[in-house]
Amino acid sequence: MTRLRLGINIDHVATIRNARGGRHPDPIRAARVAAQAGADGITAHLREDRRHIADEDIVRLVREIDLPLNLEMAATEEMLAIALRHKPHACCLVPEKREERTTEGGLDVAAQHRVLAPVVDRLNDAGIRVSLFIEPSTVQLAVAKALGAPVVELHTGSYCDAEGPARAVQLRRLQDAAAYAAEIGLECHAGHGLSFDTVGPVAAIPTIMELNIGHFLVGEAIFGGLDGAIKRMRALMDQVRSEASGQRSA
Ligand code: PXP
Repeated sequence: MTRLRLGINIDHVATIRNARGGRHPDPIRAARVAAQAGADGITAHLREDRRHIADEDIVRLVREIDLPLNLEMAATEEMLAIALRHKPHACCLVPEKREERTTEGGLDVAAQHRVLAPVVDRLNDAGIRVSLFIEPSTVQLAVAKALGAPVVELHTGSYCDAEGPARAVQLRRLQDAAAYAAEIGLECHAGHGLSFDTVGPVAAIPTIMELNIGHFLVGEAIFGGLDGAIKRMRALMDQVRSEASGQRSA
């Protein structure tokens, strides 16, 4: 089975930096630590209100970091122009609301396909790998495919927030959606809210190719360092993945 890639979201390093308005802690330094700790990519969300990642961070990530950059952004003309200027490896289109604390749900691609279609086309034409951040639903996946996006990222927030038997229900939704994504030829990623406790069952889903994880790891870094937190996450993912592939071939 292919190795599950780990993208490290460095937004909240910038959140802490911005709390004081200076340069420390530097999210680009965090990206360097992530690269050394075994990350396969760096994810950064340039929000319309620039509450964490700033334009200059994107310039520096492209210039100074060798790992592929996954730029998360809203499907607006402003963000499209920025993406076309910097040409990151990938762009993940996400819903954005000013009043939300974080990206609370997936993009409703079914309702917004008219707005999204030209943005997906222009990113595709520029050779940027487009990913759509959606809820694990067959309808959303089918529309993502029709829009011509090669990748979807499944929102794992409902799964991570659920407790008791409800979590199994949410996991099933992710498993079904990931299987359907593979069936219709979409590369499948997942992320949001993942932690050491919740990553295992998602990492075991064989058609998921990449996880993007940020907030939990930046929080853990306070207690044991970013390097150690990323290495532990990487090890958990690898272990679960190899156990799952052993079970399937047994
Ligand atoms: N993937 C996407 C598309 C996101 O918007 C986010 C949060 O910005 C993440 C992954 C990472 O989520 P978290 O920071 O909760 O790990």
